[in-house]
Amino acid sequence: MVRVLVSAGSPVMEFLNQTLKALPFVEIVAATGSIREAVDMAALEALDAMIIDESLLSDSWGLQDRLAREVFPVILIITAPHAESTRRALAIHAIDVMTQDTIASLLPPLLQSFDKSSENSTLTHRSIGVYSPKGGVGKTTLAVNLAWSLARLSERTTALVDLDLQFGDIGPMVYDSPDITMRELVEGSKGRVEEDKLSRALIAVDGLSLDLLLAPLNPQYADLVESHHIREILTQLKSSHVYTLCDLPAALTDQNLSAMDQLDILMVVATPEVITLRNVARSLKVLQTLYPDPTKIRMVINRSGTGIPQARIEEIIPLKVSYWTPSGGVSPVRSANTGKPLVVLEPANALAISIENIAKMLLEEFEGSSRRTVRKDPL
Ligand SMILES: Nc1ncnc2c1ncn2[C@@H]1O[C@H](COP(=O)(O)OP(=O)(O)OP(=O)(O)O)[C@@H](O)[C@H]1O
Ligand SMILES: [Mg+2]
Repeated sequence: MVRVLVSAGSPVMEFLNQTLKALPFVEIVAATGSIREAVDMAALEALDAMIIDESLLSDSWGLQDRLAREVFPVILIITAPHAESTRRALAIHAIDVMTQDTIASLLPPLLQSFDKSSENSTLTHRSIGVYSPKGGVGKTTLAVNLAWSLARLSERTTALVDLDLQFGDIGPMVYDSPDITMRELVEGSKGRVEEDKLSRALIAVDGLSLDLLLAPLNPQYADLVESHHIREILTQLKSSHVYTLCDLPAALTDQNLSAMDQLDILMVVATPEVITLRNVARSLKVLQTLYPDPTKIRMVINRSGTGIPQARIEEIIPLKVSYWTPSGGVSPVRSANTGKPLVVLEPANALAISIENIAKMLLEEFEGSSRRTVRKDPL
């Protein structure tokens, strides 16, 4: 659904109403003849577009700056193409300009291109797991910050699942005391994990298209979550969410393997220490036999630059390293203590920037040229 706010006088308002009401994918959030009222309402609503009649702008100079700063696309309806209209369109950073006569032909396809739900249904959904045979190498830090970055940059439905069933850290890291976890989801469900129960177990993150599914709060409940539950949870999330991320435990248990089977990408994390790298190299051999697809397993070296040199790492690891993430200093610990992901708390931190770059590379790989280009960055 595309949520649109319309601000126009007569007769443009009538034309717009007629066109918009015929579009099943459009919801008119409000229609007003006052540009000031429209700008005030825009601050309170999640909008996908705002349509403005140029004639209302002539006596509202002070509002042009506010319009230019809006993050949603603004479309300007002009009386006739002339220099003054072009100047106004530029001043408010309009993404498109159309005359009253062209509304019926130009507006519907433009609004359709903002329809995230139709985009979501044509996009290939992907699932990504973060694993390491060694503990404490930064799996959860990567999974959490990557999920936040993917959700923010793509604006697609994203899920983050804590499959470290015994010692899941995502809850403590970003969400204090959940009243529902995977334990409540699977308890009493001998057969299939019910879809409505799963959607109730998801915790929506404020301001992002991100849902969390947390691990049981107590390790003694980890075994309640069986391999078939994990298969069903991931199958359902992969159909409802464009991106699904999983934080995986170090042990190669049945549950963990059944999660890995479902994943499109398995990120294997190591730090630049010889013992960790040797361990990782051994388990990579097993994983490469299980998952021979060369694009599935991707090596991540976390805290790169703090241990043995790159050339030595590449000698030990039987796979090209896909991503190098630097040390974030004390900030990752501080972020975990405050319950806010590093990319939110300290977006300028070197580790935050590096994880955000991984998200950008993944989105380029997944969505390429189909990524929307009309979105304006907040100023
Ligand atoms: N690049 C980094 N720079 C600095 N600190 C980091 C970095 N990556 C992770 N850390 C810190 O290292 C510790 C371990 O990280 P994290 O919990 O993400 O690892 P893990 O592999 O999930 O551990 P576990 O095996 O216990 O689940 C945390 O305190 C985290 O803040
Ligand atoms: Mg962890």
